[in-house]
Amino acid sequence: MRVKDKIVVLTGAASGIGRATALLFAQEGAIQVLSDIDEDELKKTYDLIEEGKDRTIFMKVDVRKPEEVRNMIETTIEKYGRIDVLIVNAGVVRVGSVENFPDDDYDLLIDVNIKGTHYTCKYAVPYFKIQKFGSIITLASVAAHIGQVAHANYCSTKAAVLGYTRALALDLAPYNVRVNSVSPGATDTPMLQSDVAKQAKDRGVSYEEVRKEFEQEGVLGRWAKPEEIATGILFLATEESSYMTGADLRLDGGWTTQ
Ligand SMILES: NC(=O)c1ccc[n+]([C@@H]2O[C@H](COP(=O)([O-])OP(=O)(O)OC[C@H]3O[C@@H](n4cnc5c(N)ncnc54)[C@H](O)[C@@H]3O)[C@@H](O)[C@H]2O)c1
Repeated sequence: MRVKDKIVVLTGAASGIGRATALLFAQEGAIQVLSDIDEDELKKTYDLIEEGKDRTIFMKVDVRKPEEVRNMIETTIEKYGRIDVLIVNAGVVRVGSVENFPDDDYDLLIDVNIKGTHYTCKYAVPYFKIQKFGSIITLASVAAHIGQVAHANYCSTKAAVLGYTRALALDLAPYNVRVNSVSPGATDTPMLQSDVAKQAKDRGVSYEEVRKEFEQEGVLGRWAKPEEIATGILFLATEESSYMTGADLRLDGGWTTQ
């Protein structure tokens, strides 16, 4: 068991990559605090855990709300006394041309992807500094590295996550705390499915056509399974990555190597 008895806090655990990560970390022996804004789907993640329910708590947290994030971190510290691994995974995507992009969608991207990442780190960092150990893992994206059609606003939020991660790694290196990001490519989750559906609708083409385009972006010619991203997150959580900080692990099926 690669993270046996490690205290892990994970946001966005109700779906996709977050759910796959929660299930993998449960198998690998972690003690987890799972959170998400979607309480029903979060409960389903909990129900899917086969071994390790007794090592898992879950709570509804909206990462846009600093007081809820602080409560999640403080609850973890009160219960377990430390955080070994913080996985900043909650995120949203909205696509569309810049000139027609609804202001509400723009605010949502900024609030969840950028501010939510910051709040989640902000309330945990003081404890990491006292502990002098730990690993923080953020979710960037292939969209942080390259442009994608109709994704200008999403790309900008994920580039922000990348910059935030690098800089935080410098701040926390003197405290023996590592900070790294993961950049998934096209990963088969409800997020990507909704992204493809919206693009198909906007462009007047079929879902399958847009899906095929995305599948061809990575040189492997297929979407990742969420479990293939979770294994990368697990690597960054363990001592196997002990000499990595400020780095970005690209799990993009070769998308950015071309
Ligand atoms: N799927 C992909 O192709 C892909 C590619 C690159 C990066 N990512 C990133 O990976 C992460 C996970 O994405 P996913 O594909 O699993 O998406 P998903 O939509 O399947 O899951 C995201 C989860 O975040 C939760 N969430 C949304 N807003 C929230 C909020 N305000 N507070 C708390 N939780 C909130 C959702 O309820 C959901 O459970 C995201 O940060 C995403 O940007 C995904």
